[in-house]
Amino acid sequence: MTKSRKRSSRKQDRKSQETPKGLKETDSNVADATGLADSRRSFLGRLWLGLAGVALVEIVWIVLNFLRPRASVTPSDSNVLVAGPIDRFEPSTVTAFQEGRLYLSRLQDGGFLALSRECTHLGCTVPWVDGENRFVCPCHSSAYDDKGAVLSPPAPRPLDFYPVRIENGIVKVDLSKPTRRRSFEYTQVTRP
Ligand code: FES
Repeated sequence: MTKSRKRSSRKQDRKSQETPKGLKETDSNVADATGLADSRRSFLGRLWLGLAGVALVEIVWIVLNFLRPRASVTPSDSNVLVAGPIDRFEPSTVTAFQEGRLYLSRLQDGGFLALSRECTHLGCTVPWVDGENRFVCPCHSSAYDDKGAVLSPPAPRPLDFYPVRIENGIVKVDLSKPTRRRSFEYTQVTRP
């Protein structure tokens, strides 16, 4: 065999060795790409599953929230001041209630009258003066008795009053109905 033939046969041998190696690299790349696609697919699958789970939880929460029974709040519940048991209030006394901005006056005969604290002249808060047994407005000196009737002007009318009711020995005041009046009348008093 001549030298040139030997060289050409060596080149062919090298090629035949390189070709299988090249093929193996290509297979590995394809396998890698397939693996990547599979893992991407499974990641997306898990992501969708997670999102669906979150959406399901939200839907269940909304439905349960919708079906949950609500505490019944009626206007009468929120507007009633529970003053306390009858015995707490001695006759001929006036008790202030900050919550309702009112006075609960228990008259000498045992009857109850709930009076607004707002002066009917220009709306100043009227304090009860124990020593004088009367309400005296600090703004322009109007005075009212324990029934809210005007003792001295410029107040044009008696203090407004609220309906009082007594249930099972408990005195309650309905704050939703402040009532204006021209004069004091005994029908405005609630008796036990
Ligand atoms: Fe009470 Fe004027 S506001 S007397």
